[in-house]
Amino acid sequence: MTASPGTRPQAGTWLAGWLEACAELDRLQAGNPMLDAVIEEIDGRRIRVGDRWLIDFASCNYLGLDLDREVIEGIPAYLDRWGTHPGWSRMLGSPVLYEQIEAGLRELLGVADVLLLPTLTHIHAAVIPVLASDGTIFVDSRAHKTIWDGCVAARAHGATVVRYAHDDPEDLERLLRRRPKPPLLVCMDGVNSMTGNPPRLAEFLALARAHDATLYVDDGHGFGVVGERGPGETSPYGRRGNGVVRHLGESYDHLVLTGGFSKAYSSLLAFIACPPELKRLLKIAAPPYLYSGPSPIASLASTLLGLQVNASRGDELRAMLYAKTRRVLDHLEKLGAATLNASSFPIVEVPLADAGDLDRVGALLFERGIYATLAFYPGVPRHEVGFRLQLTAANTADQVDELLVVLDELADRGLLRTGAPR
Ligand SMILES: Cc1ncc(COP(=O)(O)O)c(C=O)c1O
Repeated sequence: MTASPGTRPQAGTWLAGWLEACAELDRLQAGNPMLDAVIEEIDGRRIRVGDRWLIDFASCNYLGLDLDREVIEGIPAYLDRWGTHPGWSRMLGSPVLYEQIEAGLRELLGVADVLLLPTLTHIHAAVIPVLASDGTIFVDSRAHKTIWDGCVAARAHGATVVRYAHDDPEDLERLLRRRPKPPLLVCMDGVNSMTGNPPRLAEFLALARAHDATLYVDDGHGFGVVGERGPGETSPYGRRGNGVVRHLGESYDHLVLTGGFSKAYSSLLAFIACPPELKRLLKIAAPPYLYSGPSPIASLASTLLGLQVNASRGDELRAMLYAKTRRVLDHLEKLGAATLNASSFPIVEVPLADAGDLDRVGALLFERGIYATLAFYPGVPRHEVGFRLQLTAANTADQVDELLVVLDELADRGLLRTGAPR
């Protein structure tokens, strides 16, 4: 049934069909050092792959808490007290650490209640079918794949799934006028994982309220990075990192916010912020609450310690993150190179002049010591094929300098798309 490395499965088999559907990624993964790497060692924000050291611009550890001494040194005390792993599903029982994190999050986000589960993938798969029931889901065409998978699960439970054009409230409004079957659910990313931009939340919320729909927002990338605006803010990211809804000055009326600790907080844990009655329902209807293994103690500890760092030094870290991101964006602008990023948030996708050069550009970045995420088709539309850079508070100024030199070289060689993105 399996094909050994280097051989192709027989044409017409199910395996050959799958490989054909994923051919571009299969080819890149087989030949490009920038994908599927074995990372043997790290030193700050440098990683070693084989005998080559590279600067890591592919991690989502935006606040640098994975390397923060206060977090690292605080974890062993939790392990001594709790062991490495709670052996119960949440239905059976949860260490009090969950209660502490949920209370901290309620205050930070300003929400009525919070439920923690191990990952956003679990949350989307379990919660979207519950919220959609046998009604209608409208999903942003560029919503994260894990949201789409939740919608597919909901369809199997009787929901209808309708796609609307990316971040286009006018398109959604057109679809809402067709008298879809309630309950109505609208699913989207908060800060988008590829463009780095926030959604037109105010317009979507107005539509949701007018049509009695629930807006379901995945702010995996915004939570911890952007937050409420106001006096004393250290950067345009705002204060406290309490997510895209607070950042844009909106309320949670008709909105369910999901987010994760696996990015800015470097921990395996995720949350859904919701009214208490929905939390009560999820505690009996969401399979990951009933049956899944819980997050390891080290992750619960790093979340608690991370919340502590966020309260004391978070805005300082975000100011550093903003300054580094701006340097990259200003440099791209100087080079006349396009980027999808219009927000200054720390996700910078750089499209190529010719999508066919992706392999070559990946190899060149690797050769020059820059580790980035390759954005390949069909993961992104062909005209956005390129690479994604993610800045973190733990990247040094020298590392950003090195990146800018490599961007110069790519621009000199005519490999970067110029002008405004399409
Ligand atoms: C927007 C978004 N949602 C969900 C996920 C999945 O998160 P988790 O690892 O918590 O399942 C990711 C991970 O890349 C993501 O970018």
